[in-house]
Amino acid sequence: MSEEQSRAQASRDWYKKMAFYQIWVRSFMDGNGDGIGDLYGVYDKLDYIKSLGVDGIWFSPIYPSPNADFGYDISDYRNIHPDYGDLAQFQKVLHRAHELGLKVIMDLVVNHTSDEHFWFQESRKGKDNPYSDYYIWRDKPNNWDSILEGKAWEYDAQRGQYYLHLFAKKQPDLNMDNPRVREEVKGILRFWLDMGVDGFREDVINFISKKEGLPDGLPFLPVINGLPYYKDGPHIHEYMAEFRSVCKEYNCFQLGEGPLTTVRSALRYLTGPEKSLDMMFSFDHMMADCIYTEYLHRPFSLVKLKKAFTKWQNALNGKAWNALYLENHDHPRVISRYGSERYWRESGTMLAASYLFQQGTPFLYQGQEIGMTNIRLHSIDQYMDVSSHTNFHRYHLKESLEKRMERIHHSSRDSSRTPMQWDDTEHAGFTTGEPWFVVNPNYTRINVAAEERDPESILQFYRKCLALRKKSKALLWGSYREFFPEDRSVYMYERAYEGVWYLIICSFAPFTVRVRVPREYAGRRGKLVLCNYSKEEREKQRGIRRVFAGTLDSGDNTKAEHGWFLPYEARVYRF
Ligand code: GLC
Ligand code: CA
Repeated sequence: MSEEQSRAQASRDWYKKMAFYQIWVRSFMDGNGDGIGDLYGVYDKLDYIKSLGVDGIWFSPIYPSPNADFGYDISDYRNIHPDYGDLAQFQKVLHRAHELGLKVIMDLVVNHTSDEHFWFQESRKGKDNPYSDYYIWRDKPNNWDSILEGKAWEYDAQRGQYYLHLFAKKQPDLNMDNPRVREEVKGILRFWLDMGVDGFREDVINFISKKEGLPDGLPFLPVINGLPYYKDGPHIHEYMAEFRSVCKEYNCFQLGEGPLTTVRSALRYLTGPEKSLDMMFSFDHMMADCIYTEYLHRPFSLVKLKKAFTKWQNALNGKAWNALYLENHDHPRVISRYGSERYWRESGTMLAASYLFQQGTPFLYQGQEIGMTNIRLHSIDQYMDVSSHTNFHRYHLKESLEKRMERIHHSSRDSSRTPMQWDDTEHAGFTTGEPWFVVNPNYTRINVAAEERDPESILQFYRKCLALRKKSKALLWGSYREFFPEDRSVYMYERAYEGVWYLIICSFAPFTVRVRVPREYAGRRGKLVLCNYSKEEREKQRGIRRVFAGTLDSGDNTKAEHGWFLPYEARVYRF
């Protein structure tokens, strides 16, 4: 181990042992019967969250917002959206979460505000308004596209100028070059830290500093043509240092969302004297079935997925710490993408094992732990998310309606935003009223109550994985190594630490596959500690197994040779 590595392992910051649960409150649990999830519902479900074996909650934005981008367009940074409760209810949740030993992190969205924020309302009044330079105004737009809605510039008649919005029209970008704006951000951090929150997930934080002059982007690249001029911009690390200094006073945790970040640029945020973030959400592994947005869909490639996983594992090992995830409110459900709805339970559990045992802090998104899947709505009008509509109208206009709807079915962020499926009663037990958004009709089969009863369910498997991770030093701190990276059916990785080895083997194939054992393991004795097929299910397959199987198949203390894996089978061995 290099000196650097041992130093990094020695600093076992509190967040490294944790696992987080992400809540998108609007669809989590409705506590007052108006059809909208809220903090009353969250309060009632804190014991459930704790029971998963996680140690913290990340709240997607719960501040006042006109919901042009469902909370990511904030109109007041220091309050709670009335749909979700109020500050007193938030404090109640925070207090109870802390009693249960759960940390709470908030979403910090400061690349932009809502156009209904007071600052923007003032700014648009004119150049001599005190808030005039809080946003990015120009007489003439450049050629940038926005990410969520058309061109990146919108004309404001009141001001007589265009404002920049990298996301939706109702999300004007803040001018971070203005020191007053940065003071505002620090004020927001202090406001929530003083209330007792434990950290922040910082939205598109690598976009907040824009290149002077805002040059035209590459004309042939749609959607992200301006990226070279707003990603990791010229002053980003100075601004990040300012925010870090506030957070340091509170020893809080900072996790940055880094859309399209590379390893190299991520390491600048995560290491060295400039370190400004504890972790970063990278995106490479979310592109194994698409080109930078799910809308440009292509067939799933396991090799691509493994490459992305391994690239980040290797690059950060000993230097920084990974944030592990497969789902959040921006991506369709992972079973529908990288797994199989047909082998729903098998692939849902296998996917859990494919990422929860990597080095890093795992994040679970609400509903992922019960294997929720994509929705299929019949008309584009039923979709709620601005990007579903933009995508539907932006490309592929020459394709048939069916084809375009199929793309939406694959790609829509709405699939992760349907109400949480608690039980098989009306509206999946999410609300006693009319739900604000459609409930996936599969709730009668896929729901928390049913999976609580079933010892082999996806829910129980997540619990087992998180418990195993927590009690094993090798799974927490061990090094990472991948085997057979070119294998198109199996993902196999090792975690090793102080004479203990874990071998995690995940089949991504919808059929039985033969799995080789790496040379290093041949003949070694290992113990099967976790498997997503029950003993009985595996016994049933014994016929095939006896014929072909090496000793990797049988249970305890067996020699590793080779073996046959059932569809989407996942196993964890300890050596
Ligand atoms: C982040 C959020 C996403 C939002 C965007 C603009 O990517 O996760 O939901 O639309 O930023 O705030
Ligand atoms: Ca409600």
